[in-house]
Amino acid sequence: MDYENVTILAGNRILWTFHLLLCCLLCAAGDETVKLQEVEGTTITLHTGRTGLQSDAQILWSYGPEKAEEKILFSQVFKGETVTEISERFKERLQLDRTSGALTIRNISRNHSGVYLLQVITGRISSRTFSVSVYARVSTPVIRNDRGNRSESSTEPCFLLCTVENGEDVKLSWYRGNERLNITNNTDLSVPLNLPLHIQLHDINTNTYICVSANPVSSKTTSLNIAQLCDHNSGQTDRSRSLLPVLISAGVFVFIIISVCVWLRLKKKKQPVPEKPDELTYADVNITAHSAERVKEVNI
Ligand SMILES: *[C@@H]1O[C@H](CO)[C@@H](O)[C@H](O)[C@H]1NC(C)=O
Ligand SMILES: *[C@@H]1O[C@H](CO)[C@@H](O)[C@H](O)[C@H]1NC(C)=O
Ligand SMILES: *[C@@H]1O[C@H](CO)[C@@H](O)[C@H](O)[C@H]1NC(C)=O
Ligand SMILES: *[C@@H]1O[C@H](CO)[C@@H](O)[C@H](O)[C@H]1NC(C)=O
Ligand SMILES: *[C@@H]1O[C@H](CO)[C@@H](O)[C@H](O)[C@H]1NC(C)=O
Repeated sequence: MDYENVTILAGNRILWTFHLLLCCLLCAAGDETVKLQEVEGTTITLHTGRTGLQSDAQILWSYGPEKAEEKILFSQVFKGETVTEISERFKERLQLDRTSGALTIRNISRNHSGVYLLQVITGRISSRTFSVSVYARVSTPVIRNDRGNRSESSTEPCFLLCTVENGEDVKLSWYRGNERLNITNNTDLSVPLNLPLHIQLHDINTNTYICVSANPVSSKTTSLNIAQLCDHNSGQTDRSRSLLPVLISAGVFVFIIISVCVWLRLKKKKQPVPEKPDELTYADVNITAHSAERVKEVNI
């Protein structure tokens, strides 16, 4: 009895698996889903790849977050007039192109993510499925110093933390040049995404670091400003800071030496030139004065 039951169960399972497989194969072959990733707030059109639908065709669009179960638009020709009904949820947003069946959705929001199914009913029913994911543009990541209470004597000079608001399919990465150093994501959307980075002393001045947030429709980049964020606690900058006074002193010293040299040279060059002419002029003046006096005396 037990044995029989097991066999039947096993048989059922095999049948069931086979059934599933067949279904999947058929679905995949017959009605492939068009996948779209769109930015919130934009206008999108679900193109059907068809033209010239029969003018009396009935067109039905359905939608659902997981399965297209809710009728959102139904259009038919009734007594020579086209009648199109749109569900309350999508009122004012939808527009149908009756020649192709294409559906335009204005100002799409994340609430409109899901599965859209088009059925065109003429003599027969033909259908097409769309999977639409709507994303907000990702926020710009923020880099801050994350040294916290780590000890000053650490050999790693720069502790950084990149943070971004989390969202659907958001990933946060650190890059050094073109090389990705680390990446993170989190399905819990209520907490921000965080990714730490520790930069080694010898890497600081030779590389550029960027933090990148991305989702399927957008990405934002923030470059690391090493001077700003690694300054206070970094060994490298400590060293250059302690070097600075030395450099300044050296500069001042060299300047003084050069000034003294220049001054001495100028003095040496000047000395022989002014000595004689000055006295000569003086003498001339004196002589002239004397002779003038003399002339005067003579005249009187
Ligand atoms: C677009 O939709 C959002 C809500 O999803 C609404 O707040 C906004 O006003 C709409 N914008 C336009 C231009 O209709
Ligand atoms: C999404 O739907 C919820 C309720 O269904 C609503 O409160 C919210 O405002 C909607 N958001 C947008 C962007 O339309
Ligand atoms: C920082 O301080 C907190 C408590 O003040 C402590 O729990 C933590 O281990 C410290 N972290 C480091 C890296 O020293
Ligand atoms: C990547 O970041 C995680 C923390 O989110 C950290 O534990 C891990 O060591 C990092 N990996 C590398 C290669 O830096
Ligand atoms: C998210 O991160 C996990 C590991 O934390 C990884 O296994 C998964 O592939 C990531 N998902 C995406 C979409 O990158």
